[in-house]
Amino acid sequence: MTSFPTRRLRRLRRNQTMRDMLAGVRLSVDELIAPLFVREGTGVRNPIESMPGQFQLSVDTALETARRWADLGLRAVLLFGIPDTKDAVGSEAWNDSAAVQRLTAEIKGALPDMLVITDVCLCEYTDHGHCGTLLDREGPADVDNDATLESLARVAASHARCGADIVAPSAMMDGQVQAIRYMLDADGFADTAIMSYAVKFASAMYGPFRQAAEGAPKSGDRKTYQMDYRTPLQIRPETAQDAAEGADILMVKPAWTYLDVISEVRRNFDQPLAAYHVSGEFSVLHAAAENGWIDLENAAVEVTSAIKRAGADLIITYFAEQLTQWI
Ligand code: PBG
Ligand code: ZN
Repeated sequence: MTSFPTRRLRRLRRNQTMRDMLAGVRLSVDELIAPLFVREGTGVRNPIESMPGQFQLSVDTALETARRWADLGLRAVLLFGIPDTKDAVGSEAWNDSAAVQRLTAEIKGALPDMLVITDVCLCEYTDHGHCGTLLDREGPADVDNDATLESLARVAASHARCGADIVAPSAMMDGQVQAIRYMLDADGFADTAIMSYAVKFASAMYGPFRQAAEGAPKSGDRKTYQMDYRTPLQIRPETAQDAAEGADILMVKPAWTYLDVISEVRRNFDQPLAAYHVSGEFSVLHAAAENGWIDLENAAVEVTSAIKRAGADLIITYFAEQLTQWI
């Protein structure tokens, strides 16, 4: 009998109690961030076809949703705005009375303990759908980095004035964290935190979101500013630069398909790390579940746990509301 294994790992999996006691990875509602899409109008509740269970809301219905989420135990929302008017520079993004700004103020007034995080970008607000001001030149559309920095800083300051706890720049312009930090400090918002989309890849996984937020580029793609997923060498400098510029929280995006990146950033930086389980990663689970191919609850909890196991401290997920019931 000496050939028997002495270490039988199955001993520790024998029953549910044993498995639960030994589970090193435990999801908590405290670390979930729920995205929310807000547009102008009242009483709006437009289902987003590409994202089952997600809606474009107006300020009033979004506030109701935030109240429901708070009652379920959710602590944080990430706001995206869909404006009625767009222009070349996306100026509606820094209008203090636009939907995101009004909703921020409403949520902070009604639910002061709920963290309001705002996406700081211009793609929903520009008529061309790119994340900043375009270079004035012939050839394929490309974004003018430094001109866009000024716009992003104005957006962040506008969100801070309306009470945002955290601003989350997602445009992938070089220097955006520093530009925002300088503007916030100069405007008296030294305590407003920055969660930077430090490692954001140009990804096919954003497809459903672009329908939700109506921010798809009219021509070209985002490959001159978002990262190339074949280039792991850029993970370190992208993150180091945002950390050096003052990012309080770092983010990796997408999440499920980039678990290795989450682990790498977690090991090398000491800022809290958020991971964005993006729209495509959400919608594929729904599509498979609707076909009867997978169980939605089990699959969503497994994927979210994998994101946590990889090293995420915070998880931005469209499953947030359902996860309050599932975990
Ligand atoms: C816009 C932005 C995008 C997402 C978050 N902010 C889309 C993009 O970069 O094209 C994607 C979120 C998702 O897919 O869930 N800067
Ligand atoms: Zn953008």
